[in-house]
Amino acid sequence: MTNYLSHLECSATGDRFAADCLRGLSPAGRPLLCRYDLAAVAKTVTPDAIHMRPRGLWRWRELLPLPAGVVPLTLGEGDTPLHDAPGLASALGVGRLWIKDEALEPTGSFKARGLSLAVNMALQLGARAFAIPSAGNAGGALAAYAALAGVPAHVFVPADTPVVNQREVLLFGATLHRVDGLIHDCGRIVGERKAELDAFDVSTLKEPYRLEGKKTMGFELCEQLGWRVPDVIVYPTGGGTGLIGVHKAIAELTALGWLRGAKQPRYVAVQARGCAPIVDAFYTGAKDATTAEGAHTVASGLRVPKAIGDRIMLEILRTTGGTAIAIDDDELLADMRVLAAKTGIAACPEAGACICAIRRLRASGYLAADDEVVTFNTGAGTKYVELLPTEL
Ligand SMILES: Cc1ncc(COP(=O)(O)O)c(C=O)c1O
Repeated sequence: MTNYLSHLECSATGDRFAADCLRGLSPAGRPLLCRYDLAAVAKTVTPDAIHMRPRGLWRWRELLPLPAGVVPLTLGEGDTPLHDAPGLASALGVGRLWIKDEALEPTGSFKARGLSLAVNMALQLGARAFAIPSAGNAGGALAAYAALAGVPAHVFVPADTPVVNQREVLLFGATLHRVDGLIHDCGRIVGERKAELDAFDVSTLKEPYRLEGKKTMGFELCEQLGWRVPDVIVYPTGGGTGLIGVHKAIAELTALGWLRGAKQPRYVAVQARGCAPIVDAFYTGAKDATTAEGAHTVASGLRVPKAIGDRIMLEILRTTGGTAIAIDDDELLADMRVLAAKTGIAACPEAGACICAIRRLRASGYLAADDEVVTFNTGAGTKYVELLPTEL
């Protein structure tokens, strides 16, 4: 198998860089994106061939950056179920609703996909240790892959991060740094301390490969729908790798000519009312988001006051006819319970926000009665013990 990764591209300037060494942001201070020789991929492999391979995200190997011949370190990430939820669809008033259940990933969230790719790639390129700022789930995922690789990991979390997220880091033998501040404060400290720790910084979108792991959700989604896209994709948005990754996947499948029909989905970014910088920028028409002051929400994955991928996200929302919406904590908690009780899925608060967003967008007329909607249960609700009901 040859390698189809051709280069890295600055998401702001379009400048190209070789993918032959450890890289962080581009010289313009923006995320670097992986670009592939898709014409060569289309000549080499078919969707059917990929479908027949053993389960897991590594079956998309031609569309992933790990050099050919390298055996990946894996915990079995990828290939999560896409549940059809007809009862919930009719309760919300939409034509179809599917939920991709990322609670079933190693360490119980979609973060496993990204950290699997980031750790595998960085080790190939010479990293000896890792550091990450985390709202919770990413830290646990990094700790698990670092444990698998036998290398040190430093996880910097806000001190009020859910207790299970903190303890799983310790369980995997990583070093937990509790910070009196928010995730962007953790990110700043990682930047200041990474040299002293001899650790590679795997912050969201500050290296190019986490996104490549996340995009496999989009590949699987299209395959599970029979190589087509839904009308609308609703994603709980913090740092934005999930939303940007799914969009990148669908763009690559479109370029490969592997999708039926010309339809492209509209993308909806869902945030919490207490921390909604992308929603605010979407409605003011700004190109970049400003830092959310006093960010607070129980949906810890959405507590990201400033995202380095803000410009990319806003462009996706605007160019696809998408939208952005902020949900109050009491509403997202109520819909977390609705999602779990109506489907048996271990719903997280971030997914609860998406269910509430669908309800609201149907009421506002943005969603039509026959729209086909896909959303994600991005993590296992059972990790948020503080938020689980104690009585009926
Ligand atoms: C469960 C969950 N959902 C959604 C998100 C937001 O994901 P992203 O930062 O890729 O936008 C996170 C991030 O921590 C998360 O843990």
